Amino acid sequence: MTTGKVLPTLLALAVYVNVVLALPLKTCPAFECTGSNDVFAFEPKKIYTYNLETQTSNILSGATVNQGKLHLSSEVTLQAVSTCSAILTVKKAIISNGDKKHQGSTIIEGSPVLIGIQNGQLVSEFCAGKADSLVSLNVKRAIASFFQIPVEKKQYTDIFGTCEVETTVVNGADGATEVNSYRNLNGCKHRESIISSIPSSSYNFEANVQSAPVIKSSARIEQKLKNKVLESASGHEEYHFVPYSNEGNGAIITVSTNISLVRTTDGDAPFVAAEPTSLSVIFEAPHGSSNDFTNLKTLQSAVESVCASIESSNVDTAYQVRNLIQIVRQSSSNDLLKTFNSFKSKCGGKLLIDALLSAATGQSMEALVRLSKTKGTVDLDQLYISLAFNRHPTLASIKAVGTLVDKNAPRSLILGAGALVGKYHELHGVGENKEIDGLLDKITKPLDNCNTKTHEEEDKVGYSYAL
Ligand SMILES: *[C@@H]1O[C@H](CO)[C@@H](O)[C@H](O)[C@H]1NC(C)=O
Repeated sequence: MTTGKVLPTLLALAVYVNVVLALPLKTCPAFECTGSNDVFAFEPKKIYTYNLETQTSNILSGATVNQGKLHLSSEVTLQAVSTCSAILTVKKAIISNGDKKHQGSTIIEGSPVLIGIQNGQLVSEFCAGKADSLVSLNVKRAIASFFQIPVEKKQYTDIFGTCEVETTVVNGADGATEVNSYRNLNGCKHRESIISSIPSSSYNFEANVQSAPVIKSSARIEQKLKNKVLESASGHEEYHFVPYSNEGNGAIITVSTNISLVRTTDGDAPFVAAEPTSLSVIFEAPHGSSNDFTNLKTLQSAVESVCASIESSNVDTAYQVRNLIQIVRQSSSNDLLKTFNSFKSKCGGKLLIDALLSAATGQSMEALVRLSKTKGTVDLDQLYISLAFNRHPTLASIKAVGTLVDKNAPRSLILGAGALVGKYHELHGVGENKEIDGLLDKITKPLDNCNTKTHEEEDKVGYSYAL
C-alpha cells in the first residue's frame, strides 16, 4: 500500500523539479569569436553563392514497384558577418519526384539563419526565426554541416549528432586543400530520439554504439577549399535497414549531396529574424504538425474499408488496419470524434478506440480523453497507461489530461501524465506553458508543498529527494 502512494509523490516531485529547475528558452547565441579563426577566410561584406543538388533514393531489392527518388536543387548563399559567424539562406528551391516538380518551395526556403563557425568548427547552436518550418531548418542544418572542417580525429557536432570523425587532409598547390571524412553514424550521440515500438534497454552515454541496432548508417564527405574558402563539397550517406537486409541487399536509403561555389558578390545585409530562437544544429526528427491534417472523408473511408474487410474475412485486414492507424496519426481530434460518433454503433467503435490508442498522437489522446467522459466507452486503465507511450503530445492533449486529474487520481494516471509532459519537453524543449503548469499544479497540490504532517508523508518526501 505504501509504495502505491510513494510513487505518485516521487513522480510529481520529479516532474516539478524538472520544470522549475530547467533553463528558460534560450535566446540566440552572440557568436563571440575566440582563438585563431583561420581555417576559413570568408570575407565579411561578400556573398558566396553556391549551387546545391541533393538526391535521395530508396532501394528495396526484389520490390516490383519503382524505387523512391527525391531530388532537391537550390541556391545557397553564405555571407560572413564576422570571422566566426555567417548568414545562411536557401533560395530557388525545386523539389522533384520523378516527373512532378514543386518550384520555389517556401516551406523549404524559410528565412535566413545565423550560424557560428569557430576556427572551422560549427557552433552547436544556431539562430533562426521562430516561424521557420522543421523541414527548412533541417535543410539548413545539413548545409551548415558542409561548412565544418574536421581536421583531426575527434568529435564534431553537426546535423548527424556528435560524432567521432575519421579524417584526412591533403594540402595541394595554390592554396588548395582537400578534406575527406568518414562518420559511422551508429556511434553518434544525440541523433536518435527513438520513436519506435522496438523495446530498448537503458541508455549508456559512453558506449560506442549510440543507436538502436536497426539501421546501419554512415556518411562520407569530401570538401575542397581554395584559399580557405569552400569551393565544393559532396556528401554520401547510406542507411541500411538491417531487419530487411541480407549482405547488402534489402532496404537501403542513400543520400547524395553536392554543393559548389558559383559566384562571389558584394553585399552586407544584416541578419534579421522574427522572434530569433537558438536551436541545436543536430537533425530534429519530424513530430506532429498541426497544419496538415488528412481530411475527414479519407479517415471515414479507411474505417469503412477495415469494417468491410473484417466482415468478409479478407486476407488484407491487417494491411487495412495498419493503413487506418496511419491515417488516424494524421487526423485532428475533431475529425476523430466525428468519425467515432458516426461509426460507434457499427463495426467502427471498438476498432477506432484501438486505432486511437495505437496512433498515440496528441490529437488521438485528446479525442480519447473526451470519449472517456462517457462511461464505458474507453477502458480507463488502458488510457492512463497509454499516456506514457504517446509519440507527439500537444499542449491541448496535456490540457485535456489535466481535466482527468483530481486528488483521487490513480497512480497510473499520475505516472502517465508525468511521462506525457516529459515527452513534450523532449520534443519541444522546456518553456513556459500554462497548460503544463496547470497540470503540474493539479498533481503537486495534494502534496501541500511538501509540508508534511505525518511521519509517513515525511518519508515520502525524503524518498523523492533521494530520487
Ligand atoms: C554529386 O557528384 C557525384 C560525383 O560527381 C555524382 O556521382 C553524384 O551523382 C552527384 N549527386 C547529385 C545529387 O548531383
